[in-house]
Amino acid sequence: MTSAADFVPDRTTLPALREAAAECRGCDLYRGATQTVFGEGPRGARIVMVGEQPGDKEDLVGRPFVGPAGGLRARAIEEAGLSRGDIYLTNVVKHFKHVVRGKRRIHRKPDMEEIRACTPWLDAELERIGPEVLVLLGATAAQAILGRSFRVTRQRGTFVESPLAPLVTATVHPSSILRSRGDAERRAAFEGFVRDLRTVARALKARAS
Ligand code: URA
Ligand code: SF4
Repeated sequence: MTSAADFVPDRTTLPALREAAAECRGCDLYRGATQTVFGEGPRGARIVMVGEQPGDKEDLVGRPFVGPAGGLRARAIEEAGLSRGDIYLTNVVKHFKHVVRGKRRIHRKPDMEEIRACTPWLDAELERIGPEVLVLLGATAAQAILGRSFRVTRQRGTFVESPLAPLVTATVHPSSILRSRGDAERRAAFEGFVRDLRTVARALKARAS
């Protein structure tokens, strides 16, 4: 079975990983996408945040979280008191999966096989960065990393045992907040997201002291 593992260089740096990922053919998703959207942020990042896959805007620009969900994420981390310079941003799947409907490109969830194929990139990123905290955004990222039985609704904002980082936690995906019906629901969803990120900020502070 093909996967990104056939394309990940053995011992290397983040820039070299990014370069190799640009040529990845580990699954079929590269065919319909504009480009690989690799992770971005400082090598010494204390936090790695992981989304599902690039969206429409990310696919065109080539950078993670630059679209509407990314804007919301940026506001939330600021409100939670996390610094941008501490965060490396990436996704479980590095190509935009979608279907074309007229002029629109509609997001499609990556399936288990595509997630399995792509995680060697995330593993390599985590290995190079060695973050103190891993924050999984939404069910796709959480279940890809923590297993199919993980439930974001029940377990969000708590720290779970994992070999991937000293502290590992999951929260909602910012896109889910954008899908809220009505202002009140959206505000509540945003507040919940910020609350989970404050838990991360507190835990980081506790480790530093
Ligand atoms: N949603 C994600 O999960 N990742 C992005 O990079 C953008 C939107
Ligand atoms: Fe490679 Fe991942 Fe893109 Fe599939 S989605 S081609 S595994 S980078």
